[in-house]
Amino acid sequence: MKILFVDCCISRRGGDSRTRVLADAFLAAFREKHQDAEVETVSQETLLALKPFDAAMLDDRDALASVGAWDAPVFDLARQFRAADGIVVAAPFWDLSYPAALRTYIEYISANGLAYHYDEQGCHGDCRASRLVYLTSGGDFEHEDSVGVVHWRQLATMFGIPRFDYVFAGGLDIDPAVAPELLAGACELARKLAAEF
Ligand SMILES: Cc1cc2nc3c(=O)[nH]c(=O)nc-3n(C[C@H](O)[C@H](O)[C@H](O)COP(=O)(O)O)c2cc1C
Repeated sequence: MKILFVDCCISRRGGDSRTRVLADAFLAAFREKHQDAEVETVSQETLLALKPFDAAMLDDRDALASVGAWDAPVFDLARQFRAADGIVVAAPFWDLSYPAALRTYIEYISANGLAYHYDEQGCHGDCRASRLVYLTSGGDFEHEDSVGVVHWRQLATMFGIPRFDYVFAGGLDIDPAVAPELLAGACELARKLAAEF
């Protein structure tokens, strides 16, 4: 089994990043259960180096897609995403969604004809993964329609990934005395999710 870990845990807290702690809780429990599984990481450096698509880049990508040149470097991230058996995305809750680098990553994996395609019935996903997990931590408490969660839920559907789960470690900037307890609770949820992944 190959899991893709999209590491967007960009943080000034370094190793104490709450999003990273949440992701580590999930990944440690996952590795314990699936000792033979391979975890491939999309690093923060990779995400932050991505240039958002402009018109010329879109034209170039469409030209490659029109001749089926799916091995071109512009499709590397989409091919990697498409081939994974499971996907774990971790990102902090920024400006009511997530860091811009993750939004740019979505532009790269959303390759029409590779990760999904259209026919007369509409959009169909072509990715292999059976599950996608979204892990996030936020200063405020979780709201029902949290944009990051809603967006990744819809992306999972678009990519043909049948099961979506998430953990929102919320309320971490409300009261510093309570934050460790809230994070510990979220980590426990992440571990449970990983144990049945
Ligand atoms: C640039 C930036 C934007 C943020 N925007 C929000 C926000 O819109 N809503 C919120 O509840 N918290 C927001 N926060 C707080 C973080 O979500 C929160 O501190 C989170 O736990 C940070 O994760 P980290 O410890 O992994 O860095 C923001 C923090 C930063 C640095």
